[in-house]
Parts: sequence; structure tokens; C-alpha cells
Amino acid sequence: MTKRVAVITGGASGIGRETCLQFARKGDRVVVADFNEAAGRETVEMIEAEGGEAIFIQVDVSKQESVNALVDQAVQAYGRIDVMFNNAGIGGAGPVLSQNMDLYHRTIAVNQHGVAYGIMAAGNKMKELGIRGVIINTASVFGFLASPGTFAYHATKGAVIMMSKSAALELAPHGIRVVAVAPGAVDTPIIQGYKDAGMIDSMRQKVMGGELTKPETVAKSVYLVSLDEAEAINGSVVMVDQGYASFK
Ligand code: NAI
Repeated sequence: MTKRVAVITGGASGIGRETCLQFARKGDRVVVADFNEAAGRETVEMIEAEGGEAIFIQVDVSKQESVNALVDQAVQAYGRIDVMFNNAGIGGAGPVLSQNMDLYHRTIAVNQHGVAYGIMAAGNKMKELGIRGVIINTASVFGFLASPGTFAYHATKGAVIMMSKSAALELAPHGIRVVAVAPGAVDTPIIQGYKDAGMIDSMRQKVMGGELTKPETVAKSVYLVSLDEAEAINGSVVMVDQGYASFK
């Protein structure tokens, strides 16, 4: 059987790293893609230490030519692309009335444009190769729910949700699925600011079970969404939030 090839952005840390490990454990070949080369290569070493297959490709998802090159290089290396997980993201904190505009534009460039470039590059490549693949995009409960001080971040995650729906509609005739996943409060470096601000206890209370979600738990859900058996999951948002958006 041909092994699937999964390209995972943000693969150097947190949810992305755990998703790389999960796909590799299940026998897929993994392209670990990240801006952070040292940590990305560490993810590859972790996969290889477990007997899995992976390569690292450096990418800056905020640049379209870099994302196009990532997809091209992945196909040059492994001959195909079955899964594209557009997951790289940054926190982008800052209140609306005192918004640092550099941070605003950077947040939109990475979290929103980065996902758009990934959908375009992977969608076109899958179409060209006749592969009935799946594109999964990381949104957030913050694509639905407002929280003070993260204005730009909310904008990007709302955009990821709608980009996933509209791309799914256009890619369906090619047999390509597009799905958004929406994590809640996940214990990764991206929430360090909340930890520093002493807000972790209030975040814990929003998660069913009272503990932050583990990145490996999110990774397992992403893997399930990627399977052919999940073909009915298309053009929708899968909450991987342990109830964060379900109760108050
Ligand atoms: P993380 O900080 O552990 O990982 C983010 C990764 O993205 C890092 O490896 C970083 O180097 C990479 N990255 C950042 N900018 C990049 C760029 N321009 N090009 C390539 N790579 C870049 O954070 P985490 O939590 O694993 O975040 C992954 C995704 O999950 C993000 O989209 C985030 O918004 C989302 N998310 C996280 C939640 C949480 O509570 N941790 C909740 C909901 C969504």
C-alpha cells in the first residue's frame, strides 16, 4: 500500500509537533514544516527514534512563495501529498484601542494568510496529481468566542473557519476535503502569556475535566479527521476543545 504523506506546519512545537508524531506512529510519512529549524529537526529526530519516517522543510507561512516551495519540495521528496495541516500560528495579543499595528499585521499574515497560502498550494498540487486528499486548518474556540486583549487573533481564527468552508465547497468536485479544527485551551508555549498573567486557573475551569487539553490529545483528533472514514466531515469545524465552547 502507498504510504500517505502529511505536511504539517508548526511542526516544531506544541500541537504541530504532536501531530507529526501521531501521523508517523500511524505509518504516514511526515514533512515537518516550521520557521524554527532547530526545533523542527528535533521533531524529525523524535519520529526517527520511534522508527517513523520524516523530513524537515523550513517554511515561513506568511510568505506565499515559501509555502509554495514547501509543497513542491514535499512532493519532490515523497512523490505525493495526501494531508496538509495548516497549523502554524502565533498568539497576536493586544487590545483593539491600543493595537500594536506591526503585531496586528504579523498576526493576520501568519494565522490567516498562512492558512490561505497552504490551502491554495496544497489544493492545487492535489488537484494536479489527482489525489483525493484532505486539508485541515487550525482555527480556535476564539474563532467563535470573544476574549479581551486578542483582537487580531480572533479576526484570524474567524477567517480560518470561513476559508475552510468556502474552500471545501470549491475543492469538493476534486475529491479534496477541507476541515477546520478548533482547539480550546491547550498546554503549549503559545499560552505562556496567559500563564505569566496568572490566568491559567480560569482557563482550566473552561475545559471539561478541569485541566488544560494536552497537545497530543488534539493531535489524535486531527488524525481521525484525516482518515478516509471521516469523509462526511467536510466544510465544517470540528471542535477539539473538551467542551470549552459548550458551557459557561
Ligand atoms: P506553539 O507556539 O507551540 O506552536 C506554533 C508553531 O508555529 C511554532 O513551532 C512556531 O515556530 C510556528 N510558527 C510560527 N510562525 C510561523 C511562521 N511564520 N512560519 C512557520 N512556522 C511558524 O503553539 P500551538 O498551541 O501548538 O499552536 C498551534 C496552532 O494551534 C496555532 O494556530 C494556534 O493558534 C492554535 N491554537 C492553540 C491553542 C492553545 O491553547 N494552545 C488553542 C486554539 C488554537
